[in-house]
Amino acid sequence: MRALITGGAGFIGSHIQDKLIDLGHKVAVVDNLRSGKKENLNPQAKFYELDIRDEKLDQVFSEFMPEIIFHLAAQNEVPYSMDHPFEDQDMNIVGMMKLMELSAKYKVNKVIYSNTGGAYYGDLSQDKIPTREDTPVLKPTSFYGVSKASAELYLKLYGNLKNIAWVSLRYANVYGPRQDGNKEAGVIAIFTSKLLKKEIPKINGDGFHTRDYVYVGDVVEANIKAIDYPENDYFNISTATEVSNNQVFETIEAELKTGIAVEHGPNRPGDPLHVTLDNTKAKEKLGWEPKVDFKTGVKLTVEYYSKNF
Ligand SMILES: NC(=O)c1ccc[n+]([C@@H]2O[C@H](COP(=O)([O-])OP(=O)(O)OC[C@H]3O[C@@H](n4cnc5c(N)ncnc54)[C@H](O)[C@@H]3O)[C@@H](O)[C@H]2O)c1
Repeated sequence: MRALITGGAGFIGSHIQDKLIDLGHKVAVVDNLRSGKKENLNPQAKFYELDIRDEKLDQVFSEFMPEIIFHLAAQNEVPYSMDHPFEDQDMNIVGMMKLMELSAKYKVNKVIYSNTGGAYYGDLSQDKIPTREDTPVLKPTSFYGVSKASAELYLKLYGNLKNIAWVSLRYANVYGPRQDGNKEAGVIAIFTSKLLKKEIPKINGDGFHTRDYVYVGDVVEANIKAIDYPENDYFNISTATEVSNNQVFETIEAELKTGIAVEHGPNRPGDPLHVTLDNTKAKEKLGWEPKVDFKTGVKLTVEYYSKNF
């Protein structure tokens, strides 16, 4: 199968790329290297250094003729979206529209979208946590969450109008090797790289904010399951387990044993207090469930950063 991965030089996209190549598929990557890295590219993947909104994307489609698209290219930082809402929507919504226009023109069979689940549903009362896919979004908290959720509507609309199959995977907080430890998102990568540099990590808020951390290998498996899934559908991809920022720090520190204590700073705008996503639908319909528990995932991640430090 010919698979095009947008954002394939990034953290999650590069793992999907490697898995597809292992499975014997032909892979092309479109990435403008905004946050992705050339060293994440598999030598067997064809690489196009390009913004997905660029007119030249048409040539990529006509040359590579993708049968399936894994769409990951995005502005994906909540704080950046709060300061640059127009740029965020252009990247995430217009980017999706351009991709779907070309998918229709070149008769792509299926688009699998890497959506956010963590930022999708906004701030919710405790009785809505773990959050199910059908939960109404009443209090969105970030421009990022809104642009990614809107892009899913465009995916559904184009898919249904133009007869392109689609699956949207709404991820909880993804972590694992290759996540950028210098960016604002990805607390596990950030804390690990700070501790390795003997710097003091800072928790935004009191550390009792909770998130649902899903290991990147499990996220790749969800994408693979989505290839043959026979319907158009959307799923939370999560562990349905709450882990606080304090627990994240303690689990990493238990691996690295630096003796460094964490500092606390102010809350970040746009961040909901608690995020845990119900994954019953993915278990029952997609046949997917997370295999890597938090302690094991952190161990694998810390090992990777220690080796690549
Ligand atoms: N990491 C997470 O916890 C998480 C959670 C939920 C959803 N997601 C989604 O998964 C996807 C991948 O995220 P990631 O964590 O791997 O981030 P990442 O920053 O490592 O990857 C994004 C990739 O897209 C590329 N890109 C950005 N804008 C582009 C554009 N206009 N044209 C072409 N390429 C462009 C970047 O260079 C990068 O390689 C994103 O869509 C993100 O919204 C991630």
